[in-house]
Amino acid sequence: MQTAQRLKGMRESFIREMTRLALTHNAINLSQGFPDFDPPRAVIDAAHRALDSGMNQYGITWGMPALRQAIAAKMQRWYGMEFDPDKHITVTCGVTEAISGALMALINPGDEVIIIEPFHEGYLPEVIFAGGAARFVSLEPPEFALEPDKLRAAFNPRTRAIILNTPHNPTGRVFTRAELDAVAQLCQQFDVVAITDEIYEHIIYDDRPHIPLATLPGMAERTITISGFGKTFAATGWRLGYACARDPLSTALRTIHDFTTICAPVPLQAACVAALEMPDAYYAQLKRDYTARREKIMTVLEELHFTTHLPEGAYYALADFSGWNFDGDDFAFARMLPEKFGVAVVPGSSFYATPGLGKQAVRFAFAKKLETIDAAAARLRQK
Ligand SMILES: Cc1ncc(COP(=O)(O)O)c(C=O)c1O
Repeated sequence: MQTAQRLKGMRESFIREMTRLALTHNAINLSQGFPDFDPPRAVIDAAHRALDSGMNQYGITWGMPALRQAIAAKMQRWYGMEFDPDKHITVTCGVTEAISGALMALINPGDEVIIIEPFHEGYLPEVIFAGGAARFVSLEPPEFALEPDKLRAAFNPRTRAIILNTPHNPTGRVFTRAELDAVAQLCQQFDVVAITDEIYEHIIYDDRPHIPLATLPGMAERTITISGFGKTFAATGWRLGYACARDPLSTALRTIHDFTTICAPVPLQAACVAALEMPDAYYAQLKRDYTARREKIMTVLEELHFTTHLPEGAYYALADFSGWNFDGDDFAFARMLPEKFGVAVVPGSSFYATPGLGKQAVRFAFAKKLETIDAAAARLRQK
């Protein structure tokens, strides 16, 4: 039996494979990017209330009105962006669905999509499923800067979209205003749509601002701004995200969403209204907590002879393991760690498409309680 050609050369997710490996070896899972703590109590209580009050059937496909209104208010309050909740906001099954839907809404066969590598492993399959071809622009360690010449070289008349993730997984980069300006200028020059992945917008360190690309001059009309609830509210299993875009982009994305998922989980949408009602103090505490986790993982990695750099945002450390004098590549290293030390990580090259890149690195996710990071460190000290 033949399966579709679009699946040629594709395999399962490495990140989720590493989670399964962690379970097999009873390892501490620093691979997949999910917190080992719960959403705020008020948000969980709101989910319970929704389940108890009959919110158990299909909802409006674009998302619960109260949630779309809350998202519009949030975009206005945090970034001064104007979206009509009735037209421009779609609640999706995670950021993953929003990106996939945006690509399906935009891409024709032969269109190119620029992906900045290293990249979240979902992007490439999503481009391929939409019928597009990916073109990569790589960020080089240790700065992982978006170099203007490399970026410029990737744009061409076939370019239809660029996926831009900031704060960035796995490098922890937060792109500067100058880097975003370069993207904005090229998008306008080549009539390209930007699909942004801002899932880590609130996990950002040292008073760095998060700048949505759509707020740059000329970008509001050509950007699909995507974010979600999974990371900010420690609810990755709830599968809730959203896309904000002007028309015709919004209507196109909504048409895809309507027929692929019908609607995102309704009771959890109600809980996300409560999430967006969390006071400013929640975000301040989130930043303090993640800053403490970042400090701990940095100290531990340095002590354990990994070479890494301070993440500016998100909750990952991409760490070079050359200091271990390990005889093997990143995959061998990432398979050895859970087996021998009981700690799971992700091989660096799984974030790259260009062969050879990321071979000396593994990614540690530090959205974990401090005691979890301490426990992982104690295991790794057995080396
Ligand atoms: C950059 C990035 N985008 C998207 C996702 C997936 O988001 P969601 O769980 O909302 O689909 C992740 C998850 O780790 C991520 O790191």
